[in-house]
Amino acid sequence: MSKSSLTVTDNRTGKTYEIPIEHGAIRANALKQIKTGPEDFGLVSYDPAFMNTAACKSQITYIDGDAGILRHRGYPIEELAEHSTYLEVAYLLVKGELPDNERFAMWKHNITVHTMVHENLKKFMDGFRYDAHPMGMLISTIGALSTFYPEANQIFDVENRRLQTRRLIGKVPTLAAFAYRRGLGYPYNYPDNDLSYTGNFLQMMYRMTERKYKPNPVLEKALDVLFILHADHEQNCSTNAMRSVASSQVDPYSAVASATAALYGPLHGGANEAVLRMLEEIGNKDNIPAYIKRVKDGEVRLMGFGHRVYKNYDPRAKIIKKLAHEVFEVTGNSKLIDIALELERIALQDDYFVSRKLYPNVDFYSGIIYQAMNIPTKMFPVMFAIPRTAGWCAHWAELVKDDDQKIARPRQLYLGADKRAYVPIDRRPKATVAETAVSEEL
Ligand code: CMC
Repeated sequence: MSKSSLTVTDNRTGKTYEIPIEHGAIRANALKQIKTGPEDFGLVSYDPAFMNTAACKSQITYIDGDAGILRHRGYPIEELAEHSTYLEVAYLLVKGELPDNERFAMWKHNITVHTMVHENLKKFMDGFRYDAHPMGMLISTIGALSTFYPEANQIFDVENRRLQTRRLIGKVPTLAAFAYRRGLGYPYNYPDNDLSYTGNFLQMMYRMTERKYKPNPVLEKALDVLFILHADHEQNCSTNAMRSVASSQVDPYSAVASATAALYGPLHGGANEAVLRMLEEIGNKDNIPAYIKRVKDGEVRLMGFGHRVYKNYDPRAKIIKKLAHEVFEVTGNSKLIDIALELERIALQDDYFVSRKLYPNVDFYSGIIYQAMNIPTKMFPVMFAIPRTAGWCAHWAELVKDDDQKIARPRQLYLGADKRAYVPIDRRPKATVAETAVSEEL
């Protein structure tokens, strides 16, 4: 009869242990009992970058990377992108179910009333240098929100948590648009609550002297779909940052600021910006083979390709590729799309990419759409952070309610020096050239 357990023999001692398996996992703590003697702390698992470690149980997002499947609360991303709206998906992520009409109206109202930010936030924006990266401005001002809402640290009060979640989803687009306007030296536009979530965001970005801004409905819808596609993606780098920082029981603004910082990196949310720069550097379809050679020689990475989880076409990239054509009907074609399509075609025929299962990810086409919508390259990671706020808040709530969770604190394998006595500086031997080189590397 099959048993849900793992039997391990420690060849150092000859002892055998039985470790329970639950949900296809063993508890890493169960390894602690495997010791060579009383002095031994016990076996740990070594897993840099969490390649095979589940850090939580979650009911929010399901990904099957081999099959290219992404579902939120059970709903396939393709159906959500086709039939839903970003605000509805945000509700689904945070609350677990799709809303009925009444609940949705209440949710929309509750988010919309929080789109304004304190006037002092404008002074924070003004304090940045004229050429500051908008992602740096966003990280700082989200963190600054915690000083305006000190009660946000009451994280075990469910009503308080709900309020901060609504504030974050309402205010992050405003801060993002302010950061954009700051870079241009334009006055900040206040929210227009008659517009949709994405319509208002476009208004805060682009309204100039007109009394009432009318977003182009195709672009407003396209942005909404892009926001749906970026709303959550289970335990990625920024969500892990959110959970790890929030596990210290800090307020959610500080935790979302740290998640936004994690998203800034070029291997995560900064990838769409890096894709655009790469396509511009390639510049012409004729230059693609030479660029692919540089990738294969390990000189550069093909940005927008590859994923830790998807070893198949990222389902979001498929939807975005189709969306790009709808956007170009309004904005006119982008020369970069032709380079991107050709780059994808060549890469997917090349054994380097095929054998490593490297396919386009969500960032490969999103930057081209943003560029066609006149959104500057520096703003791309910001465009990712806005919708991901709902996902981060959903994970935060799940973490706070989870009795299994404690402050995140991984172990390490200490491989440094053994105990040694302190030597006063004038009695230390002069460092050799090689030792100096090593210490300067740090
Ligand atoms: N271009 C060229 N080679 C690549 C790439 C790439 N984009 N991605 C992975 N590889 C190679 C890598 O060199 C390695 O080859 P080898 O086995 O010969 O050493 C192999 O594929 C496995 O790569 P890895 O670095 O071990 O894979 P990872 O799971 O640690 O990295 C990744 C995942 C997304 C960081 C990586 O694929 C990458 O750097 N992609 C480009 C950046 C990018 O597009 N990031 C956006 C990710 S999607 C949005 C998000 O969720 O944040």
